[in-house]
Amino acid sequence: MKISPVILAAGQGTRMRSKHPKVLHPLLGKAMIWYSLEAAYQATQVPATIVIGHGAEAVKQVSGTETQYVVQECQLGTGHALQQAAPLLKGKTDLVLVIPGDLPLLTGETLRKMVATQLHHAGPITMLTVISGDPRGFGRVVRDGKGSVLAVVEEAQATSEQLIIRELNVGAYCFTADWLWPALSQISLSRKGEYYLTDLVGIASACSLSVQPLELEDASESIGVNTRVHLAEAEAALQQRINRQWMLAGVTLHSPETVTIEPEVTIGADTVIWPNTHLRAGTQIGEDCEIGPNTLIEDTRIGNRCKVFASVLEHAVVEDDVDIGPFGHLRKGAHLAQGVHMGNFGEIKSSYLGPGTKMGHFSYIGDATIGSDVNIGGYDHL
Ligand code: UD1
Ligand code: MG
Repeated sequence: MKISPVILAAGQGTRMRSKHPKVLHPLLGKAMIWYSLEAAYQATQVPATIVIGHGAEAVKQVSGTETQYVVQECQLGTGHALQQAAPLLKGKTDLVLVIPGDLPLLTGETLRKMVATQLHHAGPITMLTVISGDPRGFGRVVRDGKGSVLAVVEEAQATSEQLIIRELNVGAYCFTADWLWPALSQISLSRKGEYYLTDLVGIASACSLSVQPLELEDASESIGVNTRVHLAEAEAALQQRINRQWMLAGVTLHSPETVTIEPEVTIGADTVIWPNTHLRAGTQIGEDCEIGPNTLIEDTRIGNRCKVFASVLEHAVVEDDVDIGPFGHLRKGAHLAQGVHMGNFGEIKSSYLGPGTKMGHFSYIGDATIGSDVNIGGYDHL
């Protein structure tokens, strides 16, 4: 059974009011589309095909080499976007998993469930739905008296009766490919001048083909980003999810709502993170460390039993039992060996400080190699 994930990412994202394409806006340091690519790969083990348009070149640059692209020259709607992938995928896949590029919280596990559901479903579509009192402009799922899904109605076209429906279309679908490609050409132009992918639900049910809804268990996965207000909401939800995972893995976070931990960070058990600490991608922290408060660490490797207090560490290496701060700054290429002490107002760039070396106060070291047990600056009792 061959599955092809397709990410729709050609839209401009007008409501973001930005010169950058919507899917490149970052959440916790990663472009929005990175999350969709990760989830798609986790679910299918197949690199995704991305439909690009607005800012195509920039989107390509963040998406990795294995990704395939198709270009949608004019943004004529989600149905038209998916159609652009037909020449590439027709005849080469059994299922098509469609993921909107603006739902960064959607997990690989949910997408995997969608594929599994569609594998056991006789009809041509499995669609993801969510029950919510806050419709956020999502399409409404219309069912008949027996509970079968009849159609998705976009908010702009919905009647006042349909507007109160609480079951919403999340915008991710798993289609049987053989049915999908011809059905896409049956979508007619909407009043807004777009081809809506959601029309496929009505097209299937009009032919008495069943549409399988799959309801999200965790509604936060459906936080779609259409505006910068949504972007902040999505980032906060992501932050909560990641912080929770680290706490469950044995890391203490004080005031976790003030702590950001980007993807691609690792932290050892029994490390304690104090408020206002930001751990950026590429950072690895060992066990039994105390980090923060008020600390920013980027792409830095830290050993076990280290203390970093109110400091900035970038592209550096810190071995075991080192303490830094307050107000220390490690810049690119700084390497502190075991047991180094770096007190207040120290800055180190492209330098190695040997084991046990102490730099207690107000010092700058650049492009230097320092041996072990050296005392730098600040002599008492001279
Ligand atoms: C869409 C759904 C809506 C659903 C919502 C939830 C349609 C018609 N509506 O609305 O039912 O509740 O998602 O996520 O599908 N895109 C293209 N080319 C285009 C237009 C869009 O690639 O011509 C891409 C966008 O970049 C975006 C995704 O498709 O990543 C969804 O488009 P968007 O305009 O955000 O659709 P919604 O209005 O959110
Ligand atoms: Mg959207």
